[in-house]
Amino acid sequence: MVRPRPPLSFPRLSVGRRLSALAHGRPSSLELLGNRYPTDSVTNLTPAIIAKLPLRLHTRPSHPLNTLRTLIESHYPDFAHLSSLSPLVSPYKNFDELSFPQDHPGRAVTDSYYVNKDLMLRTHTSAHEVEVFRRGEDKWLLTADVYRRDEIDGSHYPVFHQMEGARIFSADAAGMKEVEEDNARLRHHLAQANIVIEDVPHISVSNPNQETHDPLHSELVAQNLKLSLNSLMLTLFGGASERGSAPLRVRWIEAYFPFTSPSFEVEVFFRGKWLEILGSGVVRQATLDTANVPNKMGWAFGLGLERIAMILYSIPDIRLFWSTDERFISQFTDREITTFQPYSKYPSCFKDVSFWTPQGVTLHENDFCDVVRDVAGDLVEDVKQIDSFIHPKTNRTSLCYRVNYRSMDRSMSNEEANEMQLQVVSRLQEQFGVEIR
Ligand code: DAH
Repeated sequence: MVRPRPPLSFPRLSVGRRLSALAHGRPSSLELLGNRYPTDSVTNLTPAIIAKLPLRLHTRPSHPLNTLRTLIESHYPDFAHLSSLSPLVSPYKNFDELSFPQDHPGRAVTDSYYVNKDLMLRTHTSAHEVEVFRRGEDKWLLTADVYRRDEIDGSHYPVFHQMEGARIFSADAAGMKEVEEDNARLRHHLAQANIVIEDVPHISVSNPNQETHDPLHSELVAQNLKLSLNSLMLTLFGGASERGSAPLRVRWIEAYFPFTSPSFEVEVFFRGKWLEILGSGVVRQATLDTANVPNKMGWAFGLGLERIAMILYSIPDIRLFWSTDERFISQFTDREITTFQPYSKYPSCFKDVSFWTPQGVTLHENDFCDVVRDVAGDLVEDVKQIDSFIHPKTNRTSLCYRVNYRSMDRSMSNEEANEMQLQVVSRLQEQFGVEIR
């Protein structure tokens, strides 16, 4: 996954206990994007998340995410550009069609948002690969909002935006000739550019070719993937004036994704740090078989737009993308990347809460964070667990979280923070049966 997941600091709740905790106060159906859907025992969508579904920041005129999308689209002018697919997908589409194993952690209700057992919010744009290949698109980009339950800090938000890109060729001599020609074109383009690339082998024992693929074809396709993305990195990061005459540095790293092999990640050296930019690989043949294009082969990549926009625009907090404050919005114009001018930073209000969880129940950090987000919205800046222990005699778990309330737009009073913290506490009691210490 492009965003590393936080380590699972707690054992997961046994399903029965956890669901009965969440079932408290659940409506029997939910209206999402104009349609009604029944809920069930796995429903974990919160009103704060539901409110995000229609917003589609990646298509808002002059929004940084929209500008970044159009910049990448203009780098691939002859690709189909898709950006209006619904975020509601089946778990089958999000995971099974892409060869995710049954026990993959991304499937857990603690990590993903479910409307019900058969419907969820997509966790990545790869969820649409089969559908788009099935439509007959050979080269395409798809931009969309994706949803993951996560911790709260300046770079994590439960909704973010990804862009998926893919290109497939006929898996025969004619198709491979096309790949070779494109490789020659891209090599020529990159040879003239101020870029240094650290590569890894296209295929290795730890990053193997797929059995059904001719290794030579796989090499050519992986080469095309790398050349194409090196050229994209040059478009995105190549212009940085602060580097002076120093070259752009890009490095390739072996990776693992259930739906590609070989697989790679790309990192770019920018302002003194290596930054992970995207995941990519040679598309698993199973994906293309399911999409009814078994005679094609090709590559795909997925990148997170917020991450790249935060770097390019120097935007310090991921919540800013959702800001409706004129001081934020009016700074940007379409098709232009400019440095964000921070307006004043307002004071933080830290509030701690310590509690015992009921016997046998473990509250996942993402459950805690969803409660806080639902109460405080974008007034919460980060949440940290500052203590956790198990009482040696009673075996009960005690947790302590520190919530940092801070508005990006205005000064917030201590009373306001107290008010939100009280609501957080009462929801923890009601929904999870915790005992405040
Ligand atoms: N879907 C992956 C994620 O969300 C990113 C990704 C990896 C996309 C490899 C791809 C790919 O298309 O080939 O982390």
